[in-house]
Amino acid sequence: MSATAAWLPLLLVPALAAALAVDPDSRRPAPQPRRASSSLVDGWQSACGGRGDATDEGLLGQCAACRLSGMDAPRIYVVESKDGLGSRLHDVIAGMAIASKMGMVLGGVTFRGQGNGCHVSHGVDIMKVAGVLFGLEDPRLLFTGRPPKFDQVWPGLLALESGTRRFVPKPKENIFIANHCVACEVDAVPGISRHGTTWYPQARYYSERFLGQLRNASRIWREPLAFERGSTSVAIHVRRGDVDPADKLRGTSDLWYLSLMEQLRRLAPNADIHVFSSLEAGRQSSEFDAYRSRGATVHLDGDPLEAWAHFAAADVFVMAKSSFSHVPALLNGNCVVYQPYWHRKLKEWVIVEANHTAPLSAAAVKALHGCIGNKSARQNNRKV
Ligand SMILES: *[C@@H]1O[C@H](CO)[C@@H](O)[C@H](O)[C@H]1NC(C)=O
Ligand SMILES: *[C@@H]1O[C@H](CO)[C@@H](O)[C@H](O)[C@H]1NC(C)=O
Ligand SMILES: *[C@@H]1O[C@H](CO)[C@@H](O)[C@H](O)[C@H]1NC(C)=O
Repeated sequence: MSATAAWLPLLLVPALAAALAVDPDSRRPAPQPRRASSSLVDGWQSACGGRGDATDEGLLGQCAACRLSGMDAPRIYVVESKDGLGSRLHDVIAGMAIASKMGMVLGGVTFRGQGNGCHVSHGVDIMKVAGVLFGLEDPRLLFTGRPPKFDQVWPGLLALESGTRRFVPKPKENIFIANHCVACEVDAVPGISRHGTTWYPQARYYSERFLGQLRNASRIWREPLAFERGSTSVAIHVRRGDVDPADKLRGTSDLWYLSLMEQLRRLAPNADIHVFSSLEAGRQSSEFDAYRSRGATVHLDGDPLEAWAHFAAADVFVMAKSSFSHVPALLNGNCVVYQPYWHRKLKEWVIVEANHTAPLSAAAVKALHGCIGNKSARQNNRKV
């Protein structure tokens, strides 16, 4: 059986499509969302209904990064993930990126049931963060428990891409990608090898144009920053709390981070280093004394927006293996240091190795040196 035959029924059976897209619970009359008085949603309950009866026109009016292909383009809907804040917003950004690559727009993010619909993850108000991150007056417009009737439903990104070549969507048609983790889907698009070199097509999704619009529309630049003026600002995400440093897949040891800090200080003697982490699971603040004694400022259990503002604006941002790093890294137009993990890097990010004495190879030192040296050029370009 060909791949085509496997997904074709999804397209042709509307009842099945609707069942896939909408949880039965959400067909009951949804609670009426309170009208928020401020531009950002403050109450937990006011977020539960998503955009309620509002349509995607409202979202597209506010979301510059959603509508790169214009108001008449076909509209993509993606599923809200059930993970933490980083993964959820990573998927939303991937949905926007897929839409912009395919000449479509992001019409919304669907959620099922009330538990997930309330958008509380790790105790964080995802609405507030989404509003600041994407520059939305009313971030509830992004989320819907009652999406429109879908004209096409596809089980994943590759099916969507090959399928819409045959079933070319009409203007404003609604298209649903039923798979979870569209950010993973983008990263799984295979590379193309020719003459011994492999080319990865991810840059077609996270294109200069798309990232430029995402960064331009964001209001995260208005958040206060603790970096010392005139320094080379360095932000480091140390993922603790839910991940043990010894975790082979997701953990990174303190020793590794401390070696990297030493290398960074050699590269930028005026570095002002800020470390962001959390103390869930009974950890002690004193576990971060090694960072403090090496001159870093340690921020523990802060507001996620505070961390993301620093990650996005730093001259050098050192990521953890985490979507909580990945989302603000996509906003950072300066220098990003990347530890390989399951989400692919942007081309310009500098790779670090798992080597505990020298995380930055000679080649990485050279690349980062060049990137940091470009700072004055970047600042001259920065809009005021
Ligand atoms: C950036 O945003 C402003 C207003 O939000 C807009 O006028 C401008 O055209 C945007 N620039 C780019 C390069 O997208
Ligand atoms: C780590 O890097 C150092 C310096 O480049 C090198 O001498 C050493 O062999 C590396 N260790 C491992 C385990 O690769
Ligand atoms: C520095 O900036 C130039 C000009 O914008 C660019 O071509 C070059 O790739 C940058 N170098 C690094 C290492 O980022």
